[in-house]
Amino acid sequence: MSRTRLHTLENPKSPVSEAFRTLRTNIQFSGIDKPINSLVITSTGPGEGKSTVSINIAVAMAQAEKNVLLIDCDLRKPSLHRTFTFNHLNGLTNILVEDMEYTDVLYEAEEIKGLHVIGSGPIPPNPAELLGSNKMKNFVEKMKNIYDMVILDAPPIGLVTDSAVLSTIVDGTILVCAVGEADINATKRAKELLDKVKANILGVVLSKVPINQGGYYRYHYSQYYDSSYYEYERTRKDNRRKKRGKAK
Ligand SMILES: Nc1ncnc2c1ncn2[C@@H]1O[C@H](COP(=O)(O)OP(=O)(O)OP(=O)(O)O)[C@@H](O)[C@H]1O
Ligand SMILES: [Mg+2]
Repeated sequence: MSRTRLHTLENPKSPVSEAFRTLRTNIQFSGIDKPINSLVITSTGPGEGKSTVSINIAVAMAQAEKNVLLIDCDLRKPSLHRTFTFNHLNGLTNILVEDMEYTDVLYEAEEIKGLHVIGSGPIPPNPAELLGSNKMKNFVEKMKNIYDMVILDAPPIGLVTDSAVLSTIVDGTILVCAVGEADINATKRAKELLDKVKANILGVVLSKVPINQGGYYRYHYSQYYDSSYYEYERTRKDNRRKKRGKAK
């Protein structure tokens, strides 16, 4: 069992946990007009930290006395069962395909009051189709009425359409970008894809930020930018690139 990703539970006073609490607050603030009660966490490529962010933001919210449901929607490469140790062969796909009751596949995290987790269930041959089905939409709607926050841990958006599909049935989408790993063009394409389906991109979590960068100590494990900041940065970089091009 690998519990290395449960920072907010195992080390609540660490700067890492503090960063996740800040993320929790930022998510709450982004829903002033329309409260955010469901989220998709995705990234451009694999291994950028989606599950780590999903798990820790779920724990941080449960610690703030919210009832939280975390669902492993990575039906190609599920991973939440490795952190919470449950049998992932009963989970979301059983609910969608076999009409199993969600209460029959629910894992209640013993040490984290208020956090429930649903694993992937058996890996299906048609994940995008299942995640894009009306059944999935209705299921998430039902869960939104039961829980204060529903968090969907999704696959990378650059590779498959699952996350774009999921982003249309939730209130907000968060893009995780790993420093030094995320490809800028692929990230732009991911953003365009999300815009195309009218996803509400709440912001970008910058993960794997080197702790000693630029000559001063940066202890943030993950940093959060809201989407307007992301837009601003993107335009600024594009302009700089254009200027450099002209100067040649
Ligand atoms: N902010 C971070 N800083 C350093 N390491 C991290 C960070 N976030 C995740 N990791 C590490 O990177 C690896 C991948 O993390 P994780 O499983 O959360 O990514 P993922 O995007 O869900 O991957 P996948 O695409 O396989 O589902 C893990 O070993 C994890 O411990
Ligand atoms: Mg993952």
